[in-house]
Amino acid sequence: MPGLAVVILAAGEGTRMKSDTPKVLHCLGSKPMLEWVFAAARAAGASRQVVVLGHGAERVREILPAGVRPVLQSRQLGTGHAALTARAALKGHAGPLLVLCGDAPLITPATLRRLVRTHRRLKAAATVLTACVRDPFGYGRVLRDPADSRWVRRIAEEKDATPEERCVTEVNSGAYCFDAPRLWQALGRLDNRNRKKEYYLTDVVERLARGGARVAAVRTEDAAEILGVNSRRELAEAAGVLNQRKLAAVQAAGVTIWDPASTWIDPTVRVGRGTELLPGTRLIGRTVVGGRNRIGPAAELADSVTGEGVVIRHSVVEGSRLGRGVRVGPYAHLRPGTRVDDRVTVGNFAEINRSWVKRGVKVGHVSYLGDAVVGAGANIGAGAITANYDGSRKHPTRIGERAFIGSHTVLVAPCTVGPKALTGAGAVVKAGTRIPAEMVAVGVPARIIKRRTAPPEKNPRRKR
Ligand code: UD1
Ligand code: CA
Repeated sequence: MPGLAVVILAAGEGTRMKSDTPKVLHCLGSKPMLEWVFAAARAAGASRQVVVLGHGAERVREILPAGVRPVLQSRQLGTGHAALTARAALKGHAGPLLVLCGDAPLITPATLRRLVRTHRRLKAAATVLTACVRDPFGYGRVLRDPADSRWVRRIAEEKDATPEERCVTEVNSGAYCFDAPRLWQALGRLDNRNRKKEYYLTDVVERLARGGARVAAVRTEDAAEILGVNSRRELAEAAGVLNQRKLAAVQAAGVTIWDPASTWIDPTVRVGRGTELLPGTRLIGRTVVGGRNRIGPAAELADSVTGEGVVIRHSVVEGSRLGRGVRVGPYAHLRPGTRVDDRVTVGNFAEINRSWVKRGVKVGHVSYLGDAVVGAGANIGAGAITANYDGSRKHPTRIGERAFIGSHTVLVAPCTVGPKALTGAGAVVKAGTRIPAEMVAVGVPARIIKRRTAPPEKNPRRKR
């Protein structure tokens, strides 16, 4: 069986977006609209991908995935003309050819597969994806053969349709499967004698049908799937649909979502069973949330991984890995390159950047760790910071296990605090200092004055 190819039409200007950004680069979730279309086509098995560019071609080109071939339609003379532009790039392709619109990002791989399957089974020259909508305004109307409603005779564009035709509620999605050689042949004979003076791809349908070829239709029950994004309002609508789909899948996998209206989850994210998502939660990118977490309210996790039983409230976590039983927030910021091991507590206006914070550490109360490695069980006092940046370079700080960093200590990097060592409140540890294990350093600049007395044993019942 010959393979599947796809042409995605994306040369149009998108006037109604009122934007300096090409329409297909506007984002749904964290990906440009056009990328969703590529992803669906790829998942449906389209190995050869061509995209027709025009308006903003240079910028669109930058986001094209490897293997997608761009062709340029220098003047936008209509969808039929756009499709024809792709002909040379698909030379030799004799199998089914999907034609999709770059501004219809909600199409699913399952529907595209069904479109191709039906097309093959019926040996059609063209198969149109349609949907019945409540308000068909603006869409092409699908006019079926009165003698045999399996077949489509013509598509009437809004501006060219008669009042009776406008009453038809089955509309053209703008996605089709064609027999490639017959498409090229029919496109070569199009004219632009219509209200918009454009070469309509939809006219191919009538041309093929008149020539005795079969034009079939596949109707999707989910009208949202064909939503074309022409305005910012439709962009928000499409983003909402995409999000609701993801939320439903996450709920089905055993996750509680308190407020679906204020919860946003990218399709790329995974969420473990038994987790609760509180209002105002946003999970994006390559985030993987573990089981039995409690995330939110007002939490944003981007490209981050959490272990079992993590609690994150009112915080931002980016590019970080969190172990089990970690508690974050309220109001913490974990920045890329951070690793936080099991049972660490980070909260109350703490910021951690490119650091490794080991098991059981407590970091809270307006503190900052940058380029630091903090040993297990250490305590970072209120307002303590690593001064890791000297104005031109970043330097590392090492804090040993069970060290105690007093309130408002400044650790000027590079410096090292040994295991079980202690700094007094307000100490300024100068760059290059190494405080030996179990020693106490105080003052400005910090002087090492004595051995630390054994820290009081914690109430064993409170140990976690
Ligand atoms: C088109 C269909 C209509 C269908 C609707 C679904 C035609 C004539 N009409 O109408 O039947 O119901 O889509 O959303 O095809 N494009 C180019 N080059 C051009 C013109 C358009 O690449 O010269 C691209 C656009 O960027 C867009 C797509 O083709 O991605 C559709 O074009 P658009 O002008 O939005 O068509 P509609 O009027 O929505
Ligand atoms: Ca459109």
